[in-house]
Amino acid sequence: MTVDRPGLLVFNAMEVATLAGGLRRGAAQADIGLLMAASADPADAPAVAAYQGRIVATGRLPEVEARLSELGVADSAIERIDAQRGTVTPGLIDPHTHLLFGGTRHAEVELRQHGHSYLEILAAGGGILQTVRMTRAASDDELLDDGRRWLGEMLSHGVTTAEVKSGYGLDTQSELRLLALYGRLAAEGPVELVPTFLGAHAVGPEFRDRPDAAHAYMDSIISDQLPAVAEQGIALSVDVYCEPGVFAVDDARRLLVHARELGLRARLHADQISSGGGSELAAEVGALSADHLGAVSDAGIAALAKAAASGHPVVATLLPISSFYLDEADSAPARRLIEAGVPVALGTDFNPGTSPAPNAQLALAFAVHRLRLSAAEALAALTVNAAAALGMAESHGSLEPGMNADLVVWQPESHALLPYWLGANLVRTVIKAGRVVYAA
Ligand code: NIG
Ligand code: FE
Repeated sequence: MTVDRPGLLVFNAMEVATLAGGLRRGAAQADIGLLMAASADPADAPAVAAYQGRIVATGRLPEVEARLSELGVADSAIERIDAQRGTVTPGLIDPHTHLLFGGTRHAEVELRQHGHSYLEILAAGGGILQTVRMTRAASDDELLDDGRRWLGEMLSHGVTTAEVKSGYGLDTQSELRLLALYGRLAAEGPVELVPTFLGAHAVGPEFRDRPDAAHAYMDSIISDQLPAVAEQGIALSVDVYCEPGVFAVDDARRLLVHARELGLRARLHADQISSGGGSELAAEVGALSADHLGAVSDAGIAALAKAAASGHPVVATLLPISSFYLDEADSAPARRLIEAGVPVALGTDFNPGTSPAPNAQLALAFAVHRLRLSAAEALAALTVNAAAALGMAESHGSLEPGMNADLVVWQPESHALLPYWLGANLVRTVIKAGRVVYAA
C-alpha cells in the first residue's frame, strides 16, 4: 500500500530546470532557470520540495530541507525521491490535442502518398468528416477507453496537463457529448485536462450540400452549439479551423467575438497549410494562442509580434509532428517568430489524421531537429509557454513557490539530452500535484 504523504522532496538531481518567471519570449525563451549540481556531494545537488500539492522551495538540498522543517512538515510526512543524478523539469503541458475520436485514418496515409492532399480528402467528405462519422457511431465507453489509453501514454511520456478539443461531433448534441466525456476523464485524473470547444473544425455533414455551406454552418454554431456549450460550462475556450477552403477569417471572427461575449477565450488553427490571415485574426481578437503557423505570412508574424510587444501576447503554438506527418514542405518559421519576440509553445496535436502521436517528447525533439529551437527554448515551449497558451501560467508550468507541484524526473543528466534521444521514453518519474502518478 502506498502512503499518501503531504510533503515531497526530490533530491540528488544533476539539473533542475525551474522555468521560474512566467511567459518567455525573444532571447528569454532560452532561459530555463537552470540549477546545476556543483559537486558529486548530494548536498550540492539541486532539489525541489512541495507541500500539499504546491511547490515550496527549489535550490540546494540543505536549504530546501530547511524550508520543509520551517513549515513544520515531519520527516515521516515527506515522500523522498532520489533523482539519481537525472534532470528535473516541470510536468510537460501539451496545449493542443484532439484526444477523443472514433476509429483510425490509416487509409489516408496511402491516399496522400498517391498525391491526394489533406484538404482534397476533406473536401471529398473524408478526413475530419470520416472521423466525425466514426465518432458519432462510437459508444461513450469506447471513446472513454481509447481516451484513457492515450492519456496513459501522454502521462508516461511526461505530460501532467493537456488541452483537449471536441470537434469530431459537429452538431450540438455530439459536441456536448465529447465535452461531457472530457469532464469525466478530467474527474478521473491524474492528467489535468483543459477542454476546448471546436465545433468549427469542418463544415458539419448536415450542412455540406447547402449553398454557402460554411457560412450557414457557422450561423448554426453561433446560434445553437455555442450557447449550449457555454451553458454546459466544461469548455474554457473556443477554437476554429481558420484555413482557406475550411473557415474564412470573417466567419471565424464572428464565432470568436460571440464566444468572448460568453466568457470563452479564443484559440485558432491558423495558417496551417496556406496563409489566410488567421494569425492576424488571433492578434485582433486577443486569442490565447495561434496554432500551427506552417504558412504564416510576414504580416501574420508582425501582428503576433505587435500583440506580444503591447502586453497582450498571443502564444504561437507550433505543432511540428503534424507538418512532418503531412510531409509539408514548410515548417513553421520558429526562429523568425522567436526573433520577432513572439512567445512560442509546442504541442503534439494528437489526432487521428495529422498526428497520431501522443508523445510530447517527440514534439520536443522535432522542435529542435525541424524547427531549429535549442533544447532550452523547446523545454520552455512545452512548459511555461504552453501554460500561458492555456491561460494558466499563474499556477502551472514552472517550479517556484506556490505553483502546482507537477514535475518530471528524467533519466538523462541534462535537459540538452531530452530532444537528443529519439523514440526512447526518457521519463523516470511523473509527479502531479505533489503525488507520484507514474514511475518507469
Ligand atoms: O490540427 N487541421 C485541422 N485539425 C487537425 C487535424 C484533424 C484531423 O485531421 O482529424 C490538425 O492538424
Ligand atoms: Fe489540431
